[in-house]
Amino acid sequence: MNFKDKIVLVTGSNRGIGNEVVQALLQRGAKKIYAASRNPDSQPAISDSRVIPLKLDITDSDQIQNAVSMAQDIDILFNNAGIAAFTSLLDGPEDLLRRDMETNYFGTLNMIRAFVPVLEKKEQASIINVVTIGAFVNFPVLGGYCASKAAGFSMSQGIRTELKHKGISVHTINPGPIDTDMAKDFDAEKTAPAVAVENALGALESGELDVFPDAGSQQMIAVWKDNYLALEAMVANM
Ligand SMILES: NC(=O)c1ccc[n+]([C@@H]2O[C@H](COP(=O)([O-])OP(=O)(O)OC[C@H]3O[C@@H](n4cnc5c(N)ncnc54)[C@H](OP(=O)(O)O)[C@@H]3O)[C@@H](O)[C@H]2O)c1
Repeated sequence: MNFKDKIVLVTGSNRGIGNEVVQALLQRGAKKIYAASRNPDSQPAISDSRVIPLKLDITDSDQIQNAVSMAQDIDILFNNAGIAAFTSLLDGPEDLLRRDMETNYFGTLNMIRAFVPVLEKKEQASIINVVTIGAFVNFPVLGGYCASKAAGFSMSQGIRTELKHKGISVHTINPGPIDTDMAKDFDAEKTAPAVAVENALGALESGELDVFPDAGSQQMIAVWKDNYLALEAMVANM
C-alpha cells in the first residue's frame, strides 16, 4: 500500500490515534484527507487545504449516508473511531457493553457496507480497521470492549475474503496500550501515538495485512502465537 496521492477518509480524526494518522498521511503526500469527527469544532486547526473536515458519528446511519455522498472519491477507508467502557462483563451496566458493540463493531461494519460501492470504483482500494491486541485476549477491566473488538477482527477477516476479488484489500492495526485519552485509566506502559502510527503506516506500506504497531502488542502476539492460554494468564491481573 502506498499513501502518496491517495484520498483517505479517517474516522475519529479529531484526537488520539486518528489525529496522528491525519498528520502522518499529510507527511506521506496524501492527496486529500476527509478528517471525520463527531464534532468538527473539536478538530485541531490544520492549515492544509488537503484536509476536509467532515461531521460523522459512525453510529448514525444518516450521517454515514451524508459522508458517502460527500466522499465519493476515496481510495482508502481508515476506520479508527472507537470507544472503550472500563467495566466488568458480569457486573457492568448492559448499556455500556452494548455501546461498545454498537460503535466498535456495528458502526465500523456499517461504514464499510456504505463505502464498498465507492471503493469498488477504484482499480485498487483499501480498508484499514483499527482493532486492538485485546481482540486476541480479553483484558478483564475491558471485557466488553475486547469482545466488541474480537468481533471487529473477525468481521475484518470475513470482509477480506468477500472483497478479495473486488480489488479492495483489508487490513487491521492491533495496538497494545497507546498513550491517548482512551488509555488514560489503564495502568500499563504505553507507546506514544505518533510512534505507533508511524510503525503502523510503515507496516502497511510493506504490505502487511494485520499489523502490531508497538512493543506491547508485538510481545503479546508472540506469546499468543505460541500459546494463547499463556497470554490469557499474563493479562489476568491487568
Ligand atoms: N489507546 C489505546 O491504548 C488503544 C489500543 C488499541 C486500540 N485502540 C483503538 O484505537 C482507536 C482510536 O482510539 P484512541 O486511543 O485514539 O482513543 P481516543 O483518544 O479516545 O479517540 C477516540 C476517537 O474515536 C471517536 N469516536 C468515538 N465514538 C465515535 C462515533 N460513534 N463516531 C465517530 N467517532 C467516534 C472519538 O470522537 P470524540 O472526540 O467525539 O469522542 C475520538 O476521535 C480506537 O478504535 C481504539 O479502540 C486504542
